[in-house]
Amino acid sequence: MTTDPAATRAAQAASFDAAADVYERARPGYPDEVVDWLLASRPREVLDLGAGTGKLTRSLVDRVATVHAVDPSPNMLAQLGAALPEVRTAVGTAEAVPLPDAAVEAVLVAQAWHWVDPERALPEVRRVLRPGGVLGLVWNVRDESVPWVARLTEIIHGSAAERFIAEGRGMPDGVGDVERLTWSWQRPVDRQGLLDLVASRSYMITAPPEVRADVLAQVSDLLDTHPDLAGRDRWELPYRTEAFRVALT
Ligand SMILES: C[S@@+](CC[C@H](N)C(=O)[O-])C[C@H]1O[C@@H](n2cnc3c(N)ncnc32)[C@H](O)[C@@H]1O
Repeated sequence: MTTDPAATRAAQAASFDAAADVYERARPGYPDEVVDWLLASRPREVLDLGAGTGKLTRSLVDRVATVHAVDPSPNMLAQLGAALPEVRTAVGTAEAVPLPDAAVEAVLVAQAWHWVDPERALPEVRRVLRPGGVLGLVWNVRDESVPWVARLTEIIHGSAAERFIAEGRGMPDGVGDVERLTWSWQRPVDRQGLLDLVASRSYMITAPPEVRADVLAQVSDLLDTHPDLAGRDRWELPYRTEAFRVALT
């Protein structure tokens, strides 16, 4: 396994590329309240950076006049383009954004900033933003204070995003007056939905088949045997959405 950070980032991007279908099926979108908070400055032109299959982009198209979507994964962007033909898509990264200077009034990054190199991404965000434009970062994390969710995490391993948030990270230091919103909500899931969610994580996408099968069997067993879960075929999966915004001057 490589220890070169750039190569690791590339491998992670490639891992999502190989799992665009299951990602699109399994992952949640973002609560309206959080999207409205991120767009409080009423930007007319917005970049969804690391847009993936368009989980956040879907919430932007009804609220914003012009939406750009950039992601390194052609397969993720193909899903986005098929669902949202009005969005301007381009393959690219946060470290080399394929937009001209001062192109947008907000850059939003959903569930992706932990993959980027902030030293190189932040200057790019500043370059494509108009003066005073907003950088917004958002993550959905499972609510580990619920015992069965904590057990689920033990089985499936915490994600890179969950570790990033648990370490108290978010917006890079020194960017200005950062505001934060935490929003709690629940999402109904059935067995297949939960198994797909587990399968859509980068750890699982890149794991050997026998590891994937073992993790999925343990999750199934949890659903069958945990006292808060057994005997049902639908469950409420609790989430916290953690959002950060800052106007960059
Ligand atoms: C967990 S997905 C999130 C996708 C989407 N924003 C969402 O909320 O569902 C992470 C995304 O980050 C993208 N990504 C990985 N490295 C990146 C980079 N350096 N710059 C921009 N996006 C990157 C991946 O291709 C993937 O689509």
